[in-house]
Order: sequence, then structure tokens, then C-alpha cells
Amino acid sequence: MRHTVVPELRVHGDQLLFDGALDFAVNVWPGTRPAGLERTLREALERPGYPDDRDARDAIAAHHGRRRDEVLLTNGACEAFWLIAHALRPRRAACVHPSFTEPEAALRATGADVVRVFREPGSWRLDPDGIPRDAALVVVGNPDNPTGAIESAETLAGLDLPGRLVVIDESFMEFVPGQQETLAARRGQPGIVVVRSLTKLWSLAGVRAGYLLAEAPLIKRLESHRQPWSVNAIAGAALEYCAADHLTPVEIAAEVASARSKLFDALSELPIVQQIWPGAANFLLLRVKDGPAVVSQLAERAIAVRPASSFPGLGPDHLRVAVRPASDCARLVAALREIAA
Ligand SMILES: Cc1ncc(COP(=O)(O)O)c(C=O)c1O
Repeated sequence: MRHTVVPELRVHGDQLLFDGALDFAVNVWPGTRPAGLERTLREALERPGYPDDRDARDAIAAHHGRRRDEVLLTNGACEAFWLIAHALRPRRAACVHPSFTEPEAALRATGADVVRVFREPGSWRLDPDGIPRDAALVVVGNPDNPTGAIESAETLAGLDLPGRLVVIDESFMEFVPGQQETLAARRGQPGIVVVRSLTKLWSLAGVRAGYLLAEAPLIKRLESHRQPWSVNAIAGAALEYCAADHLTPVEIAAEVASARSKLFDALSELPIVQQIWPGAANFLLLRVKDGPAVVSQLAERAIAVRPASSFPGLGPDHLRVAVRPASDCARLVAALREIAA
């Protein structure tokens, strides 16, 4: 098998930041972390021992109505994709695009034959019939980054065929009030794997905290393919804390939904914005007139956004902007209005 490297797949918003930028490029909610989480992080740092993941796994299992042996802590959601690809080495895999590109990068690094399945570009709906039947692994984001599209849990569960693993990236699901379409609690369907991240809603990108939910034999298999103590004690403590804090995600999801709706309305009125999609998470995808010029004129105003052309299926006029608190969004809208003038 040939290992293929596609540089566009390794482009991420944080690489596009510059000193002094107001950051609309990275999808991390910039709020203050709960005091209890801050305390937990500090206390974990003070403990001298090796990480012990059992309490965090129990807390996550309890949160999703699962068992400890169905939970694997990961060094951010990203580790889950690399671990799955390298442990399972599927011959043929399907990645649903436009989407976060690390799963495809990881699969290509193992030499997998990766088929790109494109969402319908008006609505970003997924047509399940577009996925090749012989794909042994399917990766799909829900909600999807960068389109913000959300699929029904049943559509995604229906992708599960004998001999196939469906990996659902739910890294942004906590931003969706009610989380109706999650498959995190789905048991008895061994073909379903759910990946979650704490880095976005809880502002823990640097701590690298994520997890994977699957049936116990798969968890065991994945675990046997990586080093011990892969997730550090600080991330483990954060995972334990966050799994038990059910209030913070509800509050942040409501705040983000309100800020997103105002940002959506304001951007929709700008002539420079030719199309905008109503995302379900803490970012919005738009299409503008002359994307590269808009990006550089925003940079001149100390605002960083995410050009979306490195996402398969999108072009230079697609931009992704994070949802930030209202005063920051007002700056972005004012800058775009000025640019358009
Ligand atoms: C859809 C999606 N999944 C996963 C990740 C990776 O998350 P983590 O920081 O937990 O590795 C990202 C990061 O941007 C993402 O956009």
C-alpha cells in the first residue's frame, strides 16, 4: 500500500493566526472556563503519579449511559482518527466531505484507498447511497465542520453495514441544544463508533482532551495499538470533570446559538456575502465575492478568518468564521461592511 501525503489535508485554522489577530479562524469557544474546571486542571498538575484513566472513563460512561469498557480517552479527538486508521488499516474507506480533513490524512498515511463522498452542495445533505458499499470504514462529521450541517442519527446509523465501521465525529455535538442526533448512547450496534472532543466548547484545545465510544472489543483493540498513558493526567481530570458538569454545555450552547443567529442575520445583509449556510455549531460557512481579497483585507484589520479552500469540495470564495461573543462579531461585521464599501 502506498502512503500518500496531501498537504491541503493538514491545513488548520490555528496555522493561519497572526500576532494580535481577533480569532475567527479557530472554532474554539473563547469563554472563561468554569472555576471548578480550572481548579481541577491545577490539582491534576500537582499530583506526581502516572495518569489513571478509570475515573474519567466511569464519568464519561455514566454521562452517556454506557460502560467503562466502552470508553477510550484520547489525546484530543484527532488522536482517535489516527489511532483508528493505524490500528484497523481498512483497505477502502469513505470520507464524507467537505469536512475536517485529519481522518482522511490519517487513512491516507496508512495507504488506504480513500473515496471522497460529497454532500449535496446546496443543503450539504448527505446522500447515503453515494457511499460505496465496499467501504470498510466511513467517516462523517455530525455536526459537520465546516458546513455546520447536521444529519439525523438514524441516517447515520443506517450507514452501518456488515463488515463496516462508521465513525461519527461528534466533536461539535455539545453545541447543539438537546443533542437529539447524537449516537453517543447507542449500544448493541458494533459498527458505530462515536468520537467526541472537549477542546472546542470547553476551551481546552491546548490540553488535548477527547474520547471515543464503541463496543468493548474494539476499544480493547484500539488500546493495544498505542502507548500507555497516551492521555495525560490533566486532560484525564478535565474529561472527568466535564462529563459530570451538565449545566455548562447547556449554557454555552444557548449563548452560541443566540450569537450565531445574530451573526447569521447580520452577515446575510452584507452584499459581499453571496451565500451563507445556517450552521448547527459554533461557526458559519459563507461564500463571498473574491475570498482571497476579503481574507487579506480582514487581516489588515487584525481579523483572522478561515479560508475554506483546503476542504475538499470548497473553493477560494468559501470562508468559515467562528461564532464569538457579540462584541467580537460586531467587529467582524463592521470590517466586512467597510471592505464591501
Ligand atoms: C470536526 C472536527 N473534529 C475533530 C477535531 C479535532 O479536535 P481535537 O482538538 O479534540 O483534536 C476538529 C478540530 O478542529 C474538528 O474540526
